[in-house]
Amino acid sequence: MARTRTRFVCQKCGSEAARWLGRCPDCAEWNSMVEEMAPPPRTTTGPSMPQGAPQPIEDVSMETWSRTPSGIAEFDRVLGGGVVPGSLVLIGGDPGIGKSTLLMQACANLARTGRTLYVTGEESAQQVRMRADRLDAVVPDLYLGAETDIDIIEAHAQKLKPRYLIIDSIQTVHDPSGTSAPGTVSQVRACCARLMRLAKTTQVTVFLVGHVTKEGTLAGPRVLEHMVDTVLYFEGDRFQSYRILRAVKNRFGSTDEIGLFEMGDTGLREVVGASELFLSQRPEHGAGSAVVAIIEGTRPLLVEVQALVTRSFLSSPRRTTTGIDFNRAAMILAVLEKRCGLRMADKDVFVNVAGGLKVVEPAVDLGIAVALASSYRERPVDQRLVVTGEVGLAGETRSVHQTDRRLREALRMGFKRALVPGPRPRAGDDLRGLEIHEARTVREAIDAALVTGPAPAEEDDVFADFTPD
Ligand code: TYD
Ligand code: MG
Repeated sequence: MARTRTRFVCQKCGSEAARWLGRCPDCAEWNSMVEEMAPPPRTTTGPSMPQGAPQPIEDVSMETWSRTPSGIAEFDRVLGGGVVPGSLVLIGGDPGIGKSTLLMQACANLARTGRTLYVTGEESAQQVRMRADRLDAVVPDLYLGAETDIDIIEAHAQKLKPRYLIIDSIQTVHDPSGTSAPGTVSQVRACCARLMRLAKTTQVTVFLVGHVTKEGTLAGPRVLEHMVDTVLYFEGDRFQSYRILRAVKNRFGSTDEIGLFEMGDTGLREVVGASELFLSQRPEHGAGSAVVAIIEGTRPLLVEVQALVTRSFLSSPRRTTTGIDFNRAAMILAVLEKRCGLRMADKDVFVNVAGGLKVVEPAVDLGIAVALASSYRERPVDQRLVVTGEVGLAGETRSVHQTDRRLREALRMGFKRALVPGPRPRAGDDLRGLEIHEARTVREAIDAALVTGPAPAEEDDVFADFTPD
């Protein structure tokens, strides 16, 4: 008789080893290897995708690509324009962020276009019903099941033949024939593979909810990301009401779109005026705050960059950034020090994008530089000024793409002046309401952005060492 074989599987990345290791050789996580039964050797090497003879590319049917709108425009935007039949979508996020709420709201709309099965392994059917009641999602063709056994879920799906299947969450589902414990990587992976097969063979669209660990990765099964068609992350500050849905992988669309929601008493509400949301709590006439026009996906957005520059009491001054790349901020600090004569070496510096948004676009550079200079000099930035532009190492400004679209958004939001890298082609007539300043260097930009006039009355002696350039 063959002896039972075991193997050790990293619970973080799914890497396998024949013996126990203290540290995973692949992802370098400590103490993550767990002993699991090795699966019986496969007798046939059947592919997980439906098989078919190769055919000319023109003859391949595109039918399955017709998308169905979920009825939630922000959700559709992130999905790439709607729900694709037969796709497998993973939605990750911290517990309590609103994944179940979002999917329940989507279900309410999707059930109008086809039968929908919502399988919950986390809550009882009663709890889900209560939530659905509140979200106005009690609709005829929405079926509810409280189940964690993948065999039974599959059987339900075969019988009901739903067009949409929601699994909340994938970590609670287990395969009873599997040899490892529920919740382990092998289990989650096996269940995901079976759902994938189900999606590809029956054209049901499957949404999987996945929990995220403290470190910010999908708990255990990072491997899932490779298996599914689309990976969305639902993020946001639990202490604030808005939420951001972001695509990190999408086989059916771009990954730079974000969806914006606000959590309220009746569930998630789409945010229409995103710029209004991000600028709503902007301080009036405060130093160290600049409004930047960025493009998130296809959408222009105005966000506030805040900076605080204070005297440091540490031998190596503190630099902290939230929402922007740390190295980018360090580069801009160096440019300010070297090219603009601002002495940053002995200052603690904090830079923050208000509202919890993460900005990766270089177009935010000039805004950061202006906000830093504003805090350094204790002079506010003109309240009605919007900034956009990249900063180069020589202290020059560099133009960014789609400037006109950014400026139109600024105009819509009531801004009167814009600071952009120059020189640039003449702006269109629709931007006539905006006074456009072209700055060739960061130094010029700072001069144009900061409010002039006598130095603030209560200037801190922290800045006594400041020599005007
Ligand atoms: P939930 O969708 O259960 O989160 P997840 O599935 O990601 O764990 O959302 C839970 C939170 O949302 C909870 O703190 C309550 C809040 N909430 C509202 O504020 N309003 C609502 O209408 C609903 C349904 C939830
Ligand atoms: Mg939930």
